[in-house]
Amino acid sequence: MDSLEIKGGVPLHGEVQISGAKNAVLPILAATLLTREPCVIHNAPNLADVKTMCRILESLGATTSIDGGTVTVQAAKVRDFADYELVRKMRGSLCVLGPLLARLKKATVSMPGGCVIGTRPVDLHRKAMEALGAKVEIDKGYIVAKTRKLVGGEMFLGGRAGPTVLGTANAMMAATLAEGITVIEQAACEPEVVDLANFLSSMGAQIHGIGSPTLTITGVKELGGAEHEVIPDRIEAATYAIAGVATKGEVTLKGARPDHMKAVLEKLRESGVKVEQSKGNLTFKRGRGLHSVHVTTLPHPGFPTDVQAQMMAFMTQTPGISIITERIFESRFTHVQEMERLGAEISIEGPSAIVHGVQKLSGAEVMASDLRASAALVIAGMVAKGTTRVNRIYHLDRGYENLDAKLKKLGAKIRRVPQ
Ligand code: EPZ
Repeated sequence: MDSLEIKGGVPLHGEVQISGAKNAVLPILAATLLTREPCVIHNAPNLADVKTMCRILESLGATTSIDGGTVTVQAAKVRDFADYELVRKMRGSLCVLGPLLARLKKATVSMPGGCVIGTRPVDLHRKAMEALGAKVEIDKGYIVAKTRKLVGGEMFLGGRAGPTVLGTANAMMAATLAEGITVIEQAACEPEVVDLANFLSSMGAQIHGIGSPTLTITGVKELGGAEHEVIPDRIEAATYAIAGVATKGEVTLKGARPDHMKAVLEKLRESGVKVEQSKGNLTFKRGRGLHSVHVTTLPHPGFPTDVQAQMMAFMTQTPGISIITERIFESRFTHVQEMERLGAEISIEGPSAIVHGVQKLSGAEVMASDLRASAALVIAGMVAKGTTRVNRIYHLDRGYENLDAKLKKLGAKIRRVPQ
């Protein structure tokens, strides 16, 4: 397993091109199962997760081809069995459930593996499929859903932590081919869900209320192929913005969507970061003084849980006490212990992490755990004096396109060390 070796203390300067959104392209690729016709997806990021999703589609009988940032998929015929070996690698593969059920009236999808950020229940996915008339069982580690036909229905997808992103994706995709009208209440409003809804609409789906917590879908007989450009990745964008200001540098994001990042921009400004927007680019640099901030992760448009770890790395560099409260996942603080190895002073009180700033970080060997925690450790390593080695960076390769190359271009002293 590769690791990253980082010589810290070097401010990042320059421009970085933001890639297509991982959490948009995965459900959009799953949605190609809803039609026999070819679909062409542009601006797909070059990620391990995209390759895994293509392999899952192929295991279901589709043909896929990747040419640079364009993925072409044709699911002329599909099987209903998504193999454990592939699905366990990536929770995002759960989103083949809805399309398979809609296409074949039957779907057998492996329960997603757990991951370090907490249990990943599927009760809301099950509730959505049952609301459309399917019978859903968990059998030998697989979700087995079947129905004579899908019939539009009403459903409420609010769970203990608010809406479910992939649950909304599954419900929306299945409803596009159900007979009659489906109403989804407390649907997720994340930009990635909006992007999926726009792709489905271009395939001929009838969806109203896109971007709102109430989606109304009128089922159609069949959907056609479509061409689509994936939105930029707001989480990648936030990661580079925070890396720039944490290292006392100045970073310009090319191609980011500020309207997708309002909560992050607000909190960074509140902490004393200067954010300038010109010609579609966003530039981030420290203002005269930094301040501590309090952040709570919430469903969109609130502060995204996928930026929590990265923000915590930055908070070690702001004066005073900052508090970050995680309201989406029950154990998304695995990066805290690793940051403490770099000299950070963070205490965990229930769902909150109390971050004491400013901390002089010093390089050490650390272990990546989940995708975003790994990014946070890279940021902390670039701040720390001395050398930091981040192990198990396959997590990073799942969700960040060419992270080390992009950081090197910004001046980071970073190199990939093959194990
Ligand atoms: C998506 O995961 C993202 N992944 C996650 O990004 C992101 O953190 C998450 O949404 C929240 O924004 C993809 O889009 C591939 P949820 P998802 O269902 O859909 C609970 C990353 O780093 N819940 O919105 O699986 C769940 O336990 C990844 O890119 C239920 O209770 O997340 C959590 O507390 C990590 N029952 C909350 O809802 C269910 O049936 C939100 O989960 C489903 C979820």
